[in-house]
Amino acid sequence: MNFKDRFLQISEFLAPYKSMWVNEIIELYPDGLEAYPREWIELLDTLDDDQLYRLDCLSDYGLIENSELGQWMKRMNELCQVQLKEIPETENLPDWAFNKVKGKKRHEILILAEVLKEIQNDKAFSHLVDIGGGVGHLARVMAHYKGIECISLDINQEFQELGKKRLEKYPKPPQGRDVKFITHDFTHELEGEMTKKIFTKDSFSLGLHTCGPLAIKHIDCALKNQTRGLLNFGCCYNRLDPESDINISDFAKAHGQEGFNTFTFTLASRGHSSMTKEDFIHKRRVKDYRYALHIYFHDILGIKELIPVGDSHHREYWKDFGEYALSKIEKIGMETQWKKEDFDKFFAQDSLQKSLNQLFKANIIRWQLGRTLELYILLDRILYIEQSGKKAQLLQFFSSDLSPRNIGVLYTE
Ligand SMILES: C[S@@+](CC[C@H](N)C(=O)[O-])C[C@H]1O[C@@H](n2cnc3c(N)ncnc32)[C@H](O)[C@@H]1O
Repeated sequence: MNFKDRFLQISEFLAPYKSMWVNEIIELYPDGLEAYPREWIELLDTLDDDQLYRLDCLSDYGLIENSELGQWMKRMNELCQVQLKEIPETENLPDWAFNKVKGKKRHEILILAEVLKEIQNDKAFSHLVDIGGGVGHLARVMAHYKGIECISLDINQEFQELGKKRLEKYPKPPQGRDVKFITHDFTHELEGEMTKKIFTKDSFSLGLHTCGPLAIKHIDCALKNQTRGLLNFGCCYNRLDPESDINISDFAKAHGQEGFNTFTFTLASRGHSSMTKEDFIHKRRVKDYRYALHIYFHDILGIKELIPVGDSHHREYWKDFGEYALSKIEKIGMETQWKKEDFDKFFAQDSLQKSLNQLFKANIIRWQLGRTLELYILLDRILYIEQSGKKAQLLQFFSSDLSPRNIGVLYTE
Protein backbone atom coordinates (compact mmCIF):
# COMPACT_ATOMS: atom_id res chain seq x y z
CA MET A 1 0.00 0.00 0.00
CA ASN A 2 1.23 3.47 -0.79
CA PHE A 3 0.42 5.17 2.49
CA LYS A 4 0.43 8.72 1.20
CA ASP A 5 -1.88 7.86 -1.72
CA ARG A 6 -4.27 5.98 0.52
CA PHE A 7 -4.26 8.75 3.09
CA LEU A 8 -5.08 11.31 0.38
CA GLN A 9 -7.89 9.14 -0.99
CA ILE A 10 -9.39 8.75 2.47
CA SER A 11 -9.00 12.40 3.30
CA GLU A 12 -10.68 13.42 0.03
CA PHE A 13 -13.43 10.90 0.57
CA LEU A 14 -14.16 12.18 4.07
CA ALA A 15 -14.17 15.89 3.19
CA PRO A 16 -17.73 16.20 1.79
CA TYR A 17 -19.18 14.21 4.70
CA LYS A 18 -17.59 16.28 7.42
CA SER A 19 -20.87 17.30 9.02
CA MET A 20 -21.60 13.58 9.49
CA TRP A 21 -18.36 12.82 11.30
CA VAL A 22 -18.03 15.94 13.42
CA ASN A 23 -21.59 15.90 14.77
CA GLU A 24 -23.57 13.39 16.79
CA ILE A 25 -26.99 13.42 15.15
CA ILE A 26 -29.03 14.12 18.27
CA GLU A 27 -26.75 17.05 19.24
CA LEU A 28 -28.19 18.95 16.29
CA TYR A 29 -31.85 18.07 16.87
CA PRO A 30 -34.22 19.27 15.40
CA ASP A 31 -31.82 19.98 12.54
CA GLY A 32 -28.94 17.78 11.52
CA LEU A 33 -30.55 15.41 9.08
CA GLU A 34 -29.74 17.63 6.09
CA ALA A 35 -26.35 15.95 5.79
CA TYR A 36 -28.10 12.63 5.19
CA PRO A 37 -29.55 12.30 1.67
CA ARG A 38 -33.29 11.68 1.91
CA GLU A 39 -33.09 8.87 -0.72
CA TRP A 40 -30.52 7.03 1.44
CA ILE A 41 -32.83 7.10 4.45
CA GLU A 42 -35.81 6.07 2.29
CA LEU A 43 -33.81 3.19 0.88
CA LEU A 44 -32.96 1.97 4.39
CA ASP A 45 -36.68 2.18 5.19
CA THR A 46 -37.31 -0.54 2.62
CA LEU A 47 -35.06 -3.01 4.47
CA ASP A 48 -36.22 -5.27 7.29
CA ASP A 49 -34.37 -5.63 10.62
CA ASP A 50 -32.30 -8.54 9.39
CA GLN A 51 -31.18 -6.72 6.25
CA LEU A 52 -30.45 -3.59 8.26
CA TYR A 53 -28.41 -5.62 10.72
CA ARG A 54 -26.39 -7.18 7.91
CA LEU A 55 -25.77 -3.82 6.33
CA ASP A 56 -24.88 -2.01 9.54
CA CYS A 57 -22.90 -4.63 11.41
CA LEU A 58 -21.50 -6.85 8.67
CA SER A 59 -21.03 -4.12 6.00
CA ASP A 60 -23.11 -6.30 3.70
CA TYR A 61 -24.24 -3.80 1.07
CA GLY A 62 -24.93 -6.46 -1.61
CA LEU A 63 -28.69 -5.81 -1.48
CA ILE A 64 -28.29 -2.12 -2.27
CA GLU A 65 -25.09 -2.31 -4.31
CA ASN A 66 -26.57 -0.52 -7.32
CA SER A 67 -27.79 2.45 -5.30
CA GLU A 68 -25.82 5.59 -4.47
CA LEU A 69 -25.66 4.51 -0.82
CA GLY A 70 -24.41 1.06 -1.85
CA GLN A 71 -21.68 2.62 -4.00
CA TRP A 72 -20.71 4.88 -1.11
CA MET A 73 -20.31 1.87 1.19
CA LYS A 74 -18.44 -0.04 -1.49
CA ARG A 75 -15.95 2.81 -1.88
CA MET A 76 -15.32 2.88 1.88
CA ASN A 77 -14.84 -0.85 1.86
CA GLU A 78 -12.17 -0.47 -0.84
CA LEU A 79 -10.46 2.35 1.07
CA CYS A 80 -10.33 0.22 4.21
CA GLN A 81 -8.69 -2.83 2.64
CA VAL A 82 -5.56 -3.69 4.58
CA GLN A 83 -3.18 -6.53 3.84
CA LEU A 84 -3.69 -9.58 6.04
CA LYS A 85 -0.61 -10.65 7.95
CA GLU A 86 0.33 -14.18 7.05
CA ILE A 87 0.47 -16.04 10.30
CA PRO A 88 2.58 -19.15 10.72
CA GLU A 89 0.55 -22.02 12.13
CA THR A 90 -0.17 -21.38 15.79
CA GLU A 91 1.35 -23.82 18.24
CA ASN A 92 -0.80 -25.63 20.79
CA LEU A 93 0.02 -24.57 24.31
CA PRO A 94 -0.84 -26.31 27.57
CA ASP A 95 -4.33 -25.53 28.87
CA TRP A 96 -3.10 -23.67 31.93
CA ALA A 97 -1.23 -21.19 29.70
CA PHE A 98 -4.64 -19.67 29.02
CA ASN A 99 -6.47 -20.43 32.23
CA LYS A 100 -8.90 -17.51 32.79
CA VAL A 101 -7.86 -15.88 29.51
CA LYS A 102 -10.92 -15.11 27.36
CA GLY A 103 -11.35 -16.29 23.75
CA LYS A 104 -10.58 -12.91 22.17
CA LYS A 105 -7.38 -12.44 24.16
CA ARG A 106 -6.37 -16.04 23.56
CA HIS A 107 -6.77 -15.54 19.80
CA GLU A 108 -4.67 -12.35 19.88
CA ILE A 109 -1.93 -13.84 22.06
CA LEU A 110 -1.60 -17.01 20.00
CA ILE A 111 -1.19 -14.96 16.84
CA LEU A 112 1.20 -12.44 18.35
CA ALA A 113 3.29 -15.23 19.85
CA GLU A 114 3.94 -16.55 16.33
CA VAL A 115 4.46 -13.09 14.87
CA LEU A 116 6.93 -12.06 17.57
CA LYS A 117 8.78 -15.35 17.31
CA GLU A 118 9.08 -14.79 13.57
CA ILE A 119 10.46 -11.28 14.15
CA GLN A 120 12.83 -12.64 16.78
CA ASN A 121 14.19 -15.21 14.29
CA ASP A 122 14.73 -12.52 11.70
CA LYS A 123 15.91 -9.55 13.76
CA ALA A 124 16.98 -11.09 17.06
CA PHE A 125 15.96 -8.70 19.83
CA SER A 126 17.14 -8.97 23.42
CA HIS A 127 13.77 -8.54 25.14
CA LEU A 128 10.17 -7.54 24.60
CA VAL A 129 8.58 -4.57 26.35
CA ASP A 130 4.78 -4.82 26.51
CA ILE A 131 3.34 -1.32 26.97
CA GLY A 132 0.00 -1.32 28.78
CA GLY A 133 0.53 -5.05 29.34
CA GLY A 134 -2.26 -5.27 31.95
CA VAL A 135 -2.21 -8.59 33.80
CA GLY A 136 0.71 -9.69 31.65
CA HIS A 137 -0.87 -12.64 29.84
CA LEU A 138 0.98 -11.91 26.63
CA ALA A 139 4.31 -11.38 28.38
CA ARG A 140 3.85 -14.63 30.31
CA VAL A 141 3.11 -16.66 27.20
CA MET A 142 6.02 -15.11 25.30
CA ALA A 143 8.48 -15.69 28.16
CA HIS A 144 7.32 -19.12 29.22
CA TYR A 145 6.56 -20.73 25.89
CA LYS A 146 8.53 -18.75 23.32
CA GLY A 147 11.68 -18.16 25.37
CA ILE A 148 11.61 -14.37 25.05
CA GLU A 149 12.56 -12.23 28.06
CA CYS A 150 9.69 -9.80 28.77
CA ILE A 151 8.94 -6.61 30.62
CA SER A 152 5.27 -5.83 31.15
CA LEU A 153 4.66 -2.16 31.88
CA ASP A 154 1.31 -0.85 33.10
CA ILE A 155 -0.11 1.97 35.18
CA ASN A 156 -2.45 -0.38 37.02
CA GLN A 157 -0.80 -2.00 40.04
CA GLU A 158 -3.79 -4.24 40.78
CA PHE A 159 -3.56 -5.87 37.33
CA GLN A 160 0.12 -6.41 37.81
CA GLU A 161 -0.29 -7.98 41.26
CA LEU A 162 -2.72 -10.47 39.70
CA GLY A 163 -0.13 -11.18 37.02
CA LYS A 164 2.62 -11.77 39.60
CA LYS A 165 0.42 -14.18 41.57
CA ARG A 166 -0.29 -16.04 38.40
CA LEU A 167 3.44 -16.41 37.69
CA GLU A 168 3.89 -17.98 41.12
CA LYS A 169 0.96 -20.34 40.58
CA TYR A 170 2.10 -21.55 37.17
CA PRO A 171 5.91 -21.56 37.36
CA LYS A 172 7.87 -21.20 34.15
CA PRO A 173 8.76 -24.29 32.14
CA PRO A 174 12.48 -25.28 32.17
CA GLN A 175 13.22 -23.46 28.89
CA GLY A 176 11.09 -20.44 29.88
CA ARG A 177 12.40 -16.91 30.47
CA ASP A 178 11.48 -14.26 33.05
CA VAL A 179 8.72 -11.70 33.13
CA LYS A 180 9.38 -8.45 34.95
CA PHE A 181 6.53 -6.11 35.89
CA ILE A 182 7.02 -2.35 36.05
CA THR A 183 4.20 -0.21 37.40
CA HIS A 184 4.41 3.13 35.69
CA ASP A 185 2.34 5.86 34.04
CA PHE A 186 3.81 5.78 30.59
CA THR A 187 2.76 9.35 29.83
CA HIS A 188 5.81 10.31 31.91
CA GLU A 189 9.42 9.32 31.39
CA LEU A 190 10.62 6.55 33.67
CA GLU A 191 12.93 7.80 36.37
CA GLY A 192 16.64 8.42 35.73
CA GLU A 193 18.14 6.18 33.12
CA MET A 194 15.35 3.58 33.35
CA THR A 195 13.80 4.42 29.97
CA LYS A 196 17.13 3.99 28.22
CA LYS A 197 17.77 0.72 30.05
CA ILE A 198 14.44 -0.70 28.98
CA PHE A 199 14.07 0.77 25.50
CA THR A 200 17.50 -0.24 24.31
CA LYS A 201 18.52 -0.41 20.67
CA ASP A 202 18.18 -4.19 20.90
CA SER A 203 14.70 -4.22 22.39
CA PHE A 204 11.36 -4.67 20.66
CA SER A 205 8.23 -3.06 22.03
CA LEU A 206 4.63 -4.05 21.68
CA GLY A 207 1.50 -2.13 22.57
CA LEU A 208 -1.60 -4.29 22.29
CA HIS A 209 -4.63 -2.04 22.48
CA THR A 210 -2.86 0.98 23.84
CA CYS A 211 -5.78 3.24 24.72
CA GLY A 212 -6.04 6.70 23.23
CA PRO A 213 -2.82 8.72 23.45
CA LEU A 214 -0.85 5.82 24.93
CA ALA A 215 -0.32 4.58 21.36
CA ILE A 216 1.37 7.83 20.37
CA LYS A 217 3.54 7.82 23.50
CA HIS A 218 4.57 4.28 22.60
CA ILE A 219 5.52 5.25 19.05
CA ASP A 220 7.42 8.33 20.26
CA CYS A 221 9.35 6.36 22.86
CA ALA A 222 10.37 3.66 20.36
CA LEU A 223 11.47 6.27 17.80
CA LYS A 224 13.35 8.38 20.33
CA ASN A 225 15.24 5.42 21.74
CA GLN A 226 15.78 3.80 18.33
CA THR A 227 14.48 0.40 19.46
CA ARG A 228 14.82 -2.53 17.08
CA GLY A 229 11.17 -2.41 16.32
CA LEU A 230 7.62 -1.72 17.35
CA LEU A 231 4.21 -3.26 16.91
CA ASN A 232 1.31 -1.13 18.02
CA PHE A 233 -2.46 -1.61 18.08
CA GLY A 234 -4.52 1.39 19.09
CA CYS A 235 -7.89 1.39 20.78
CA CYS A 236 -10.29 3.78 22.59
CA TYR A 237 -9.72 6.56 20.07
CA ASN A 238 -12.35 8.56 21.98
CA ARG A 239 -9.62 9.27 24.55
CA LEU A 240 -7.48 11.08 21.98
CA ASP A 241 -7.01 14.80 22.34
CA PRO A 242 -8.16 16.56 19.15
CA GLU A 243 -5.55 19.26 19.78
CA SER A 244 -2.49 17.03 19.90
CA ASP A 245 -3.26 13.44 18.93
CA ILE A 246 -4.44 13.69 15.33
CA ASN A 247 -2.66 14.90 12.19
CA ILE A 248 0.61 14.12 13.95
CA SER A 249 2.46 13.51 10.66
CA ASP A 250 3.65 16.38 8.48
CA PHE A 251 1.78 14.84 5.55
CA ALA A 252 -1.53 14.84 7.43
CA LYS A 253 -0.88 18.38 8.64
CA ALA A 254 -0.54 19.44 5.00
CA HIS A 255 -3.20 17.25 3.36
CA GLY A 256 -5.51 16.02 6.11
CA GLN A 257 -8.86 17.11 7.46
CA GLU A 258 -9.45 19.53 10.30
CA GLY A 259 -12.23 19.45 12.85
CA PHE A 260 -11.68 16.06 14.53
CA ASN A 261 -13.44 16.01 17.89
CA THR A 262 -14.60 13.53 20.52
CA PHE A 263 -17.61 12.55 18.40
CA THR A 264 -15.30 11.73 15.50
CA PHE A 265 -13.00 9.67 17.68
CA THR A 266 -15.94 7.82 19.24
CA LEU A 267 -17.15 6.99 15.75
CA ALA A 268 -13.66 5.72 14.80
CA SER A 269 -13.71 3.45 17.86
CA ARG A 270 -16.91 1.92 16.58
CA GLY A 271 -15.48 0.76 13.26
CA HIS A 272 -15.76 -2.97 12.72
CA SER A 273 -17.12 -3.80 16.14
CA SER A 274 -18.83 -7.14 15.93
CA MET A 275 -22.46 -7.24 17.01
CA THR A 276 -25.08 -9.95 17.11
CA LYS A 277 -28.55 -9.36 15.73
CA GLU A 278 -29.81 -9.17 19.36
CA ASP A 279 -27.20 -6.48 20.16
CA PHE A 280 -28.35 -4.56 17.10
CA ILE A 281 -32.02 -4.72 18.16
CA HIS A 282 -31.01 -3.58 21.64
CA LYS A 283 -28.92 -0.75 20.21
CA ARG A 284 -31.99 0.54 18.40
CA ARG A 285 -34.06 0.42 21.56
CA VAL A 286 -31.41 2.33 23.53
CA LYS A 287 -31.21 5.00 20.83
CA ASP A 288 -35.02 5.30 20.66
CA TYR A 289 -35.35 5.80 24.42
CA ARG A 290 -32.46 8.22 24.71
CA TYR A 291 -33.56 10.25 21.72
CA ALA A 292 -37.20 10.29 22.84
CA LEU A 293 -36.14 11.63 26.24
CA HIS A 294 -34.02 14.31 24.60
CA ILE A 295 -36.94 15.28 22.35
CA TYR A 296 -39.14 15.57 25.47
CA PHE A 297 -36.56 17.87 27.10
CA HIS A 298 -36.22 19.88 23.89
CA ASP A 299 -39.80 20.13 22.65
CA ILE A 300 -41.77 20.01 25.88
CA LEU A 301 -39.46 21.57 28.46
CA GLY A 302 -37.64 23.90 26.05
CA ILE A 303 -34.15 22.71 27.08
CA LYS A 304 -32.01 23.09 23.99
CA GLU A 305 -28.74 21.58 25.12
CA LEU A 306 -28.19 17.83 25.39
CA ILE A 307 -28.47 16.55 28.96
CA PRO A 308 -26.26 13.52 29.59
CA VAL A 309 -28.46 10.82 31.09
CA GLY A 310 -25.90 8.03 31.38
CA ASP A 311 -26.18 4.33 30.63
CA SER A 312 -28.78 2.07 32.17
CA HIS A 313 -28.88 -1.63 32.76
CA HIS A 314 -29.93 -3.62 29.70
CA ARG A 315 -33.35 -4.49 31.19
CA GLU A 316 -34.28 -0.83 31.88
CA TYR A 317 -34.64 -0.22 28.14
CA TRP A 318 -37.21 -2.98 27.84
CA LYS A 319 -39.57 -1.49 30.41
CA ASP A 320 -42.22 0.97 29.21
CA PHE A 321 -40.81 4.30 28.10
CA GLY A 322 -42.64 6.05 30.97
CA GLU A 323 -40.79 4.02 33.57
CA TYR A 324 -37.45 4.59 31.88
CA ALA A 325 -38.07 8.35 31.53
CA LEU A 326 -39.21 8.87 35.12
CA SER A 327 -36.27 6.96 36.57
CA LYS A 328 -33.79 8.96 34.45
CA ILE A 329 -35.42 12.26 35.35
CA GLU A 330 -35.23 11.39 39.03
CA LYS A 331 -31.62 10.25 38.74
CA ILE A 332 -30.47 13.52 37.19
CA GLY A 333 -32.38 15.53 39.81
CA MET A 334 -34.98 17.12 37.55
CA GLU A 335 -38.69 17.50 38.10
CA THR A 336 -41.65 16.78 35.85
CA GLN A 337 -45.43 17.11 36.11
CA TRP A 338 -45.85 14.19 33.71
CA LYS A 339 -46.97 10.78 34.88
CA LYS A 340 -45.87 7.47 33.41
CA GLU A 341 -48.99 7.38 31.17
CA ASP A 342 -48.15 10.81 29.73
CA PHE A 343 -44.68 9.63 28.75
CA ASP A 344 -46.06 6.42 27.26
CA LYS A 345 -48.56 8.39 25.19
CA PHE A 346 -45.82 10.79 24.07
CA PHE A 347 -43.62 7.88 23.00
CA ALA A 348 -46.43 6.16 21.06
CA GLN A 349 -47.19 9.24 18.90
CA ASP A 350 -46.80 8.59 15.16
CA SER A 351 -44.83 11.79 14.65
CA LEU A 352 -42.32 10.86 17.36
CA GLN A 353 -41.93 7.31 16.04
CA LYS A 354 -41.32 8.77 12.57
CA SER A 355 -38.60 11.08 13.90
CA LEU A 356 -36.96 8.25 15.86
CA ASN A 357 -36.96 6.06 12.77
CA GLN A 358 -35.28 8.76 10.69
CA LEU A 359 -32.70 9.42 13.39
CA PHE A 360 -31.88 5.74 13.64
CA LYS A 361 -31.49 5.34 9.87
CA ALA A 362 -29.28 8.43 9.75
CA ASN A 363 -27.21 6.88 12.52
CA ILE A 364 -26.73 3.71 10.50
CA ILE A 365 -25.37 5.81 7.65
CA ARG A 366 -23.10 7.75 10.00
CA TRP A 367 -21.75 4.59 11.66
CA GLN A 368 -20.45 3.30 8.34
CA LEU A 369 -17.76 5.99 8.48
CA GLY A 370 -16.17 4.45 11.58
CA ARG A 371 -13.65 2.15 9.93
CA THR A 372 -12.61 4.81 7.38
CA LEU A 373 -11.92 7.24 10.21
CA GLU A 374 -9.91 4.57 12.00
CA LEU A 375 -7.83 4.05 8.89
CA TYR A 376 -7.24 7.81 8.70
CA ILE A 377 -5.90 7.76 12.28
CA LEU A 378 -3.67 4.73 11.66
CA LEU A 379 -2.31 6.03 8.36
CA ASP A 380 -1.44 9.31 10.07
CA ARG A 381 0.54 7.30 12.64
CA ILE A 382 2.34 5.28 10.01
CA LEU A 383 3.25 8.42 8.04
CA TYR A 384 4.56 9.91 11.29
CA ILE A 385 6.83 6.86 11.78
CA GLU A 386 7.98 7.00 8.17
CA GLN A 387 9.00 10.63 8.43
CA SER A 388 11.65 9.43 10.91
CA GLY A 389 13.17 7.38 8.12
CA LYS A 390 11.68 4.01 9.16
CA LYS A 391 9.96 1.61 6.82
CA ALA A 392 6.67 0.70 8.42
CA GLN A 393 3.84 -1.71 7.64
CA LEU A 394 0.11 -1.59 8.24
CA LEU A 395 -1.33 -5.09 8.54
CA GLN A 396 -4.44 -6.84 9.76
CA PHE A 397 -3.40 -9.40 12.36
CA PHE A 398 -6.60 -10.67 13.99
CA SER A 399 -9.94 -11.92 12.81
CA SER A 400 -12.49 -9.08 12.70
CA ASP A 401 -15.18 -11.19 14.40
CA LEU A 402 -13.04 -11.81 17.44
CA SER A 403 -11.04 -8.63 17.68
CA PRO A 404 -12.30 -5.44 16.03
CA ARG A 405 -9.16 -3.37 16.68
CA ASN A 406 -7.12 -5.72 14.56
CA ILE A 407 -4.83 -3.50 12.50
CA GLY A 408 -1.27 -3.15 13.72
CA VAL A 409 1.45 -0.65 12.88
CA LEU A 410 4.78 -2.48 12.60
CA TYR A 411 8.37 -1.60 11.95
CA THR A 412 11.59 -3.51 12.46
CA GLU A 413 15.18 -2.45 11.84
C1 LIG B 1 -7.10 -1.85 26.66
S1 LIG B 1 -6.04 -2.35 27.92
C2 LIG B 1 -5.00 -3.51 27.10
C3 LIG B 1 -4.35 -4.48 28.03
C4 LIG B 1 -3.54 -5.57 27.33
N1 LIG B 1 -2.47 -5.03 26.53
C5 LIG B 1 -4.45 -6.43 26.49
O1 LIG B 1 -4.43 -6.29 25.27
O2 LIG B 1 -5.20 -7.20 27.07
C6 LIG B 1 -4.99 -0.97 28.09
C7 LIG B 1 -3.98 -1.11 29.22
O3 LIG B 1 -3.19 0.08 29.22
C8 LIG B 1 -2.98 0.48 30.57
N2 LIG B 1 -2.70 1.93 30.55
C9 LIG B 1 -3.56 2.92 30.25
N3 LIG B 1 -2.95 4.12 30.35
C10 LIG B 1 -1.67 3.86 30.72
C11 LIG B 1 -0.54 4.70 31.00
N4 LIG B 1 -0.61 6.01 30.89
N5 LIG B 1 0.62 4.12 31.34
C12 LIG B 1 0.71 2.75 31.43
N6 LIG B 1 -0.32 1.92 31.21
C13 LIG B 1 -1.51 2.47 30.85
C14 LIG B 1 -4.27 0.09 31.27
O4 LIG B 1 -4.08 -0.03 32.66
C15 LIG B 1 -4.62 -1.22 30.59
O5 LIG B 1 -4.04 -2.31 31.26
